[in-house]
Amino acid sequence: MEKTNIQVYIKPSQINKKIKELAAKINRDYHNKTPIFIGILNGSFIFLADLIREIKVKCEIDFMKLSSYGDSKISSGEVKLLKDLNCNVKGRDIILVEDIIDTGLSMKYIVKLIKKEKPASVRIATLLHKKEATKHNIRIDYTCFVIPNKFVVGYGLDFAQKYRNLKGIYVL
Ligand code: IMP
Ligand code: MG
Repeated sequence: MEKTNIQVYIKPSQINKKIKELAAKINRDYHNKTPIFIGILNGSFIFLADLIREIKVKCEIDFMKLSSYGDSKISSGEVKLLKDLNCNVKGRDIILVEDIIDTGLSMKYIVKLIKKEKPASVRIATLLHKKEATKHNIRIDYTCFVIPNKFVVGYGLDFAQKYRNLKGIYVL
């Protein structure tokens, strides 16, 4: 894969270490529970796959898909549901898994949607958080890395659907 104009920002070994730490917290917090991890497609697929393999408590997995940015680096400010859940979340402990929280709009939309189904609890896990860019008031329970307001790719994150396969995280 051509990597001109992109700089490594977070190395695979750093990601791996953080995911282990984050999973250890989840394992403690969900001791004796059976959470459902809900991955937000497409970006979260690699993070979720790595995270889940460090989880020791019984758990289930499902996915939701929202409309993306298209080929732009800037949020359209509009969210649409492209794929709904297949599982029943009523009375269940839910962990929403995102690749990155930017403005927070997508996550706010998802939380609102999930809460209508009356889960027992909802928490949020994200690989990356652009804290300075977050405008919507959401509580993020598990974060691997807080990053500056730069556009990043790799490890599941794309620009115009490219670069998801890179093992590390790169600044475009
Ligand atoms: P938000 O709704 O503004 O928080 O945007 C969240 C979604 O935008 C994420 O799930 C990503 O799909 C996408 N996104 C935001 N920032 C980046 C980035 O730096 N690289 C790749 N995708 C991004
Ligand atoms: Mg996403």
